[in-house]
Amino acid sequence: MSQGFSFTLDGAEIQAEQGMTIMEAADKAGVWIPRLCWLKDISPGGACRLCTVVVNGRHQAACTQPASPGIEVVNDSAELFAMRKQLVEMLLVEGNHYCMFCEKSGNCELQAVAYRFGITHPRYPYSFPERAVDATHPEVLIDHNRCIRCGRCVRTSSETDAKGVFGFVQRGAHTALAVDASEGLGATVLEGLDAAVKACPVGAILRKREGYAVPVGERLYDNEPIGSDVEQRRTTPAE
Ligand code: SF4
Ligand code: FES
Repeated sequence: MSQGFSFTLDGAEIQAEQGMTIMEAADKAGVWIPRLCWLKDISPGGACRLCTVVVNGRHQAACTQPASPGIEVVNDSAELFAMRKQLVEMLLVEGNHYCMFCEKSGNCELQAVAYRFGITHPRYPYSFPERAVDATHPEVLIDHNRCIRCGRCVRTSSETDAKGVFGFVQRGAHTALAVDASEGLGATVLEGLDAAVKACPVGAILRKREGYAVPVGERLYDNEPIGSDVEQRRTTPAE
């Protein structure tokens, strides 16, 4: 039986168990901490920094930082909101994200976070990078224009599918998603139903011939803001 303890999140005491991260404890308590590179059932990547919270005065990634007894965590502050908003805006201008023409629209976590943060347009100039589309696989395509380098496909392919199809090449601003075959995705062992295909939060990895199976307007985030599933867990305190 794991040992329970409590800590403070935005001034309210919440319960956690040994081994939980701050994000897991917050999720359980019904408090949504923004995230993009985190995905249930794979190891946390700590890549996007969207989940940054302040723990006893220090900035930490909530998806990797273990919860511990008595810590004071701030998730909801003007400073963190501004930082997270800026991160999302940087992601939007760094790639080529044309939401109105993207099959992922309405199911895209980047778009959904942007809407939740009230971003109508980024404050920074678009960089319009030239990136390729890999359509060599019979069932799946990679559109590198939309990749936010979150690593979810990399970790899922390795940890869930036990295949290691995806990885990153180069470093820093030049980091790019790659597959383990120089001829492209079609030469890898990836299968259309692999968990890694579903792991992408944006429209960078998509199954072919499934476009608009669910009409725009009926998609996951068309009617419910991202994070609603977590916030619905919050119990209303007794009056
Ligand atoms: S392809 Fe998708 S899941 Fe993979 S790193 Fe890019 S955005 Fe993340
Ligand atoms: S969700 Fe924690 S760093 Fe991306």
